[in-house]
Amino acid sequence: MGSVSFRHVRKKYPSERRYSVDDFHLDVSDGEFLVLVGPSGCGKSTLLRMLAGLEDITEGEMYIGGRMINYVPPKDRNIAMVFQNYALYPHMSVYENIAFGLRLRKVAKHELHERVSRAAKVLEIENHLPKLPGRLSGGQRQRVALGRAIVREPDVFLMDEPLSNLDAKLRVQMREEITRLHRKLQSTFLYVTHDQIEAMTMGTRIVIMRDGVIQQVGTPRDIYASPRNMFVGGFIGTPPMNFVHGRIRSEGDTLYFETKRYALALPADKRKRLLEGGYGRRAVVMGVRAEKAECRPGRGSGAGPAGGGDGREFPCRIDRIEFMGSDAYAHVSNEEHRLVVRVDPLGFAGIEGDPATVRIPTEDVHLFDPETEELLC
Ligand SMILES: Nc1ncnc2c1ncn2[C@@H]1O[C@H](COP(=O)(O)OP(=O)(O)OP(=O)(O)O)[C@@H](O)[C@H]1O
Ligand SMILES: [Mg+2]
Repeated sequence: MGSVSFRHVRKKYPSERRYSVDDFHLDVSDGEFLVLVGPSGCGKSTLLRMLAGLEDITEGEMYIGGRMINYVPPKDRNIAMVFQNYALYPHMSVYENIAFGLRLRKVAKHELHERVSRAAKVLEIENHLPKLPGRLSGGQRQRVALGRAIVREPDVFLMDEPLSNLDAKLRVQMREEITRLHRKLQSTFLYVTHDQIEAMTMGTRIVIMRDGVIQQVGTPRDIYASPRNMFVGGFIGTPPMNFVHGRIRSEGDTLYFETKRYALALPADKRKRLLEGGYGRRAVVMGVRAEKAECRPGRGSGAGPAGGGDGREFPCRIDRIEFMGSDAYAHVSNEEHRLVVRVDPLGFAGIEGDPATVRIPTEDVHLFDPETEELLC
């Protein structure tokens, strides 16, 4: 059984002042594809290395299949780890590289052969078995590294940025292959990346880490649609969520999110939450996804509360249009703000330097506390 549990796990390297992993507490079900994502230095590798037994843990407990493994030697944890740099033996054939771990474990010859052949078949590298790794492409080498993990038939696969040495196209292809491999083997995968596209496309669940601390755990959809704080909103999604600093103003029965030149009437559910939380007239940050805002060329209906007009539109200027084929993004700004808004790649008529107007549907905004950066509503 490949379920994994972390119980308040902490790690402090002797040379460091801070915890590199802090109170990591999570259950991973058998067969899950869990992706750990976060910026460089947030503790992803440390966490995997602790689970693999390559690094001791400072506090907490770890379980695999219900068994506490804190004191179990690495070789008895039934885990296989795949690294970024493949770590193949250059003087051994592909076959021997894949078989190596099994030979160490004194697996019987016919079984060893059968397991290597099966793995090679799954990974479609049967033709390369006699070759030396030096004669393979990056993607093929990465497959050999995967093969070495597969033949061990582990309960849990740990992968630490296994694709980051590959070029963009190959990365996309290997992403598919690893996902397929997971479906086929149905084992538990813990996969580390700092690439949020990998995280979104591969993970059944994603864990977002920052400075050793879990920020949010959820399905890719949940995390994208409901980021718990500004860090998650800014980290997940390309382009990142837009943030606009402003404050809440109350007028009659309505609450407005307001900046100097812009006022957005907030829906009743947000009003209730804001009032309950004491945010009736506080500074807040509005977050909106690029595809939720609408951008039109031209000046629109007015400049907002200070300059007349209804203020529900952001008057701005088009700084740049980023054309990507199936998508395009207008980068717009005014004296106060900068936004990135998705536009129709072929239909959008605005050009760089032109005025434009951005409208934001009020039900699609997220409001955050500017100090704690936590989601308010
Ligand atoms: N052997 C070590 N000794 C001391 N500090 C370490 C050691 N390994 C990692 N650290 C520190 O622990 C923190 C987490 O490092 P870790 O390698 O786990 O990050 P990461 O999320 O894998 O980053 P990256 O995306 O760059 O691989 C960092 O601040 C790092 O400096
Ligand atoms: Mg790392």
